[in-house]
Amino acid sequence: MQFQTIIEPFRIKAVEPIRFTTREQREAALQAAHYNLFLLKAEDVLIDLLTDSGTGAMSAAQWAGMMQGDESYAGARSFFRFESAVREVTGLKHIIPTHQGRAAERILFATACTAGQIVPNNTHFDTTRANLEALGVQAVDLRCPEATQPALIAPFKGNIDLAALERCLTENTGRVPFAMITVTNNSGGGQPVALANLRAASALCHRHGVPLILDCCRFAENAWFIKQREPGQAHRSPAEIAREMFSYADGCTMSAKKDGLVNIGGFLALNDDALAARCRNNLILTEGFPTYGGLAGYDLEALAVGLKEVLDENYLHYRIRSVEYLGDKLTQAGVPIVQPTGGHAIYIDAKAMLPHIPPAQFPAWALSCALYLEGGVRSVEIGSVMFGRQPDGTEKPAAMELVRLAFPRRVYTQSHVDYLAEVLLHVNSIKQRIRGVQIVEAPELLRHFTARLAPVSGALLGD
Ligand code: F0G
Repeated sequence: MQFQTIIEPFRIKAVEPIRFTTREQREAALQAAHYNLFLLKAEDVLIDLLTDSGTGAMSAAQWAGMMQGDESYAGARSFFRFESAVREVTGLKHIIPTHQGRAAERILFATACTAGQIVPNNTHFDTTRANLEALGVQAVDLRCPEATQPALIAPFKGNIDLAALERCLTENTGRVPFAMITVTNNSGGGQPVALANLRAASALCHRHGVPLILDCCRFAENAWFIKQREPGQAHRSPAEIAREMFSYADGCTMSAKKDGLVNIGGFLALNDDALAARCRNNLILTEGFPTYGGLAGYDLEALAVGLKEVLDENYLHYRIRSVEYLGDKLTQAGVPIVQPTGGHAIYIDAKAMLPHIPPAQFPAWALSCALYLEGGVRSVEIGSVMFGRQPDGTEKPAAMELVRLAFPRRVYTQSHVDYLAEVLLHVNSIKQRIRGVQIVEAPELLRHFTARLAPVSGALLGD
């Protein structure tokens, strides 16, 4: 193409107004939410980048598909459409629908793991870690060395550390029920995993008789990065690359709220017949009959269409480029972000941006509050509030203090992104005034969702 501008590859057929607030209103809302952005009312948020999960816009084809939903309790037509769409993308044998990703995780883990075991991953997402720890299983993160250096530009910072994986498997023979790899690596900055890394990890696991499970929420974005960055992959379609990614796995857990392009849904897919049969029995206990798994027939239809749309090259090009576009603007202005930009989100390195706030005063949390206060933007902390509490109750600062700005799929346009850049640069210009925060009250598990916090020195912004 002779033109450079990458436009949104869609026209907008339905619109949803967003609500503008004053700074005073946001100040009051932040206090009422106990300085926890999860506790805000969504209508008090202008641009909501809390998550890319379940927040995307569905296409006309998906809405039309929903009208075809077969709501039969068992054996619904919609299930078979969903099953064949998932099988086409993954090549996996048993496809078990669940209402979202963590349900797939809980069912797999409760079926396949026992207390005292160990499950390695490049980086566990908070729900996979919590579901394992709830069973007394140790969740270990084996990210590659490049992943811990936010400013370093490397193509596949999502890779699992193969030497560490080998050590883990050798030292814990008989204690590893399966290994996992998260694509893209959400908690590590939305960074992709290379085909070569998946291939090697798979061979390693199989040599030790250990299955490999993909946490594949963002498999299409990962496939796009492979196409762009891995030698010899440029000519292949994202669908072909995705199929090869899955060929190295023995199963996957999927939150379809990401690359399924749906507002709710997920699945567990497995090749092992016996394990799949036991998982289906567990599914019936809490999710429902194996041909709906907690979803409506129309949800399964929307998901079947979404899985095809997400592999469209024009969509993936626009998707990854919009995130990179914001990343470029921030980098030019000297705002420290995880480099290179990830698939679904920008991750601001709050440790580098706010060196005057010690990790014990949660710099990334404080920054996320400041972004809301100043610009009505909701982001999420991925740092010591999310990960600092250890299973034994002690505190240990997280490896990184990040603020994630996650992009819903097909929702915001380039002018929204330009506005975001303005807000971020403004907050960067007043960063010296941002003060730390402390936890006032928090539950033991997954505390970031409901914790109450307060500025250490009374106000979030000092003079
Ligand atoms: N695995 C990864 C890598 C995830 O990012 C998520 C969800 C899950 C599993 C769980 O899926 O929400 O459908 O139960 N991540 C969202 C986020 C919530 O904001 O990153 P779920």
